[in-house]
Amino acid sequence: MIRVGILFGGQSAEHEISVQSARNVLAALPATHYVAVPIGITRQGQWWLADPAWLSQADPQRLPAFEQGMAPVGVRPGQGLVVFQKQQWEPLPLDVVFPVLHGPCGEDGTVQGLLTLAGLPFVGAGVLGSALGMDKEVMKRLLTQAGLAVAPYCCYRRGETVDPAAVVAQLGLPLFVKPANMGSSVGITKVHRADELLPALATAWKYDAKALVEQAIVGREIECAILDGSPPQASVPGEIIPQHEFYSYAAKYLDEQGALLKAPAELSPDQVKQVQQLSVRVFQVLEGRGLARVDWFFTPDGRWLVNEINTIPGFTQISMYPKLWELSGIPYPELVSRLVTMALPTP
Ligand SMILES: Nc1ncnc2c1ncn2[C@@H]1O[C@H](COP(=O)(O)OP(=O)(O)O)[C@@H](O)[C@H]1O
Ligand SMILES: [Mg+2]
Repeated sequence: MIRVGILFGGQSAEHEISVQSARNVLAALPATHYVAVPIGITRQGQWWLADPAWLSQADPQRLPAFEQGMAPVGVRPGQGLVVFQKQQWEPLPLDVVFPVLHGPCGEDGTVQGLLTLAGLPFVGAGVLGSALGMDKEVMKRLLTQAGLAVAPYCCYRRGETVDPAAVVAQLGLPLFVKPANMGSSVGITKVHRADELLPALATAWKYDAKALVEQAIVGREIECAILDGSPPQASVPGEIIPQHEFYSYAAKYLDEQGALLKAPAELSPDQVKQVQQLSVRVFQVLEGRGLARVDWFFTPDGRWLVNEINTIPGFTQISMYPKLWELSGIPYPELVSRLVTMALPTP
């Protein structure tokens, strides 16, 4: 039996999505081979042993926050995890951990560093790959250096003096302003007029000391799922068709009709091959491991611009990542098993 820790919840805006993803991952691990040990992280960042019954039975239509579990969980560097039970800290034996966490303090290398120190193997990117996937500015620098196209952009530190006229002269209008380290479209503004730039920067700087100003790209939003291997494999691509002005937080999570997920995307066989090859390249350039979803803008004149990589993409049964693998011939339970098996140390 393989003991799999499922880390979920967490401090990011995607807490509820993570709970939902974890519920699906738990259900996908057959009890014949796996002992699933769900570990919930509250919004305040505390770790608790979660009740598997709570996780599996909670209404799948609702997205409850994880408030408190059965017993506190801690980390012992070099000795894995521990749990406080019967008035004492006891080892919590695990063979592997699946962090089903999104955004800062989950997908950005912090948890990955903690698990590395604990001596626990885990699913997905390591410290560097996770951190690179979170920082849109460093990500873009590395992609550009590798010859991959990205939207033209500028980066400004919190409090820097910015001349809107100069930015507009360089990048044009409209613009997208976003925190460098965030996710779920939190803190992102589409700017249509020069006088909206400074307020948009102030918004982005609330979430991160670094903000990106990007040229708004006219094009389709195409996503490709990567599953590691030698070499890493790319799924059939899918398309996001936002029904709002862009794929905003509301379009992602608040409005059920906020975006259409079209999978597979309508592309020619050549275009599919292009985006698959490019996505594997992005995965490699950004030190990917295990899994990732690579998001693109596909322009009317046939150019592919990388928008971003997500090192722990949404993992609910209806999320794009598993959906794309299902369409590519790997059903959800097999996908979960493969990711877990891949993360185990080779005997
Ligand atoms: N440069 C851009 N041009 C056009 N649309 C953009 C641009 N940047 C972001 N968007 C829109 O905003 C959404 C969220 O931006 P993204 O950079 O993917 O942030 P997040 O990490 O929060 O998902 C994208 O899915 C897209 O709809
Ligand atoms: Mg995105």
